Amino acid sequence: MKTIIANWKMNVGVRESVALARGTLLTLRGRKNIPELVICPPFVALSEVRKIVARSHAALGAQNMSWEDQGAFTGEISPRMFEELGVTHVILGHSERRHVLGETDEMIQKKVQKALEHNLVVILCVGETKAQRDAGEERDIVKEQLLKAFDGLRIKNAEKIFIAYEPVWAIGTGQSAEVPQMLEMHEWIKRVLHERFKEIPASQFRVLYGGSVTPDNAYQFLRESLVDGVLVGGASVKINQFNEIVEAASEVLEAQS
Ligand code: PGA
Repeated sequence: MKTIIANWKMNVGVRESVALARGTLLTLRGRKNIPELVICPPFVALSEVRKIVARSHAALGAQNMSWEDQGAFTGEISPRMFEELGVTHVILGHSERRHVLGETDEMIQKKVQKALEHNLVVILCVGETKAQRDAGEERDIVKEQLLKAFDGLRIKNAEKIFIAYEPVWAIGTGQSAEVPQMLEMHEWIKRVLHERFKEIPASQFRVLYGGSVTPDNAYQFLRESLVDGVLVGGASVKINQFNEIVEAASEVLEAQS
């Protein structure tokens, strides 16, 4: 299977989200082999988008969440609220939250733990900055992010986990990773997780690529067997582009079927 996560970020309001959700579902129509689709609108649009995706093949995801269930945490959104909203997936540790909003590995660990407690599917983002890659530190950085995110946690299988490898320098820049660079990191991520959770085979961990995925490069990523899907930001709010990315995933699935 291939999974496509649409991360709309803070780019659309409620009305636009409704239209975009309808358009996004249309991209699946008439296809024989459809990828798994997860739509992540802004919080304020979750309940309206839920009505649209409810009877579809798409799942609903949130872009972040609190590590607390409830209480005096002004401005935060808890996983308990997701239950009412039909949210099944949550993006955690996105680079914009780490680097712009100051989220630490410790905060991300608490969120991962809480999300798994609530039976949510975690989409954990990891990735190095340009300076870290230039210094040859990308493997160490990503390993540290993974080990810290899962610190103290026990999992029996990898069903509820996606890792999105998203090099910070590739996000929203138009400069995606090269396929060999990406493959090396995907393999590394699977290896690190297998070493950490010994009883789970490396191949069971699903790893996505994210960072300037476009219609022009989606196929080259998706056709790789080490790539379980893509996390799409900018191109997910441009329906024509998103349609072509879904098309690329369908082609790959068709070729594999
Ligand atoms: P982008 O964003 O596709 O616009 O680079 C990806 C992401 O932030 O997850």
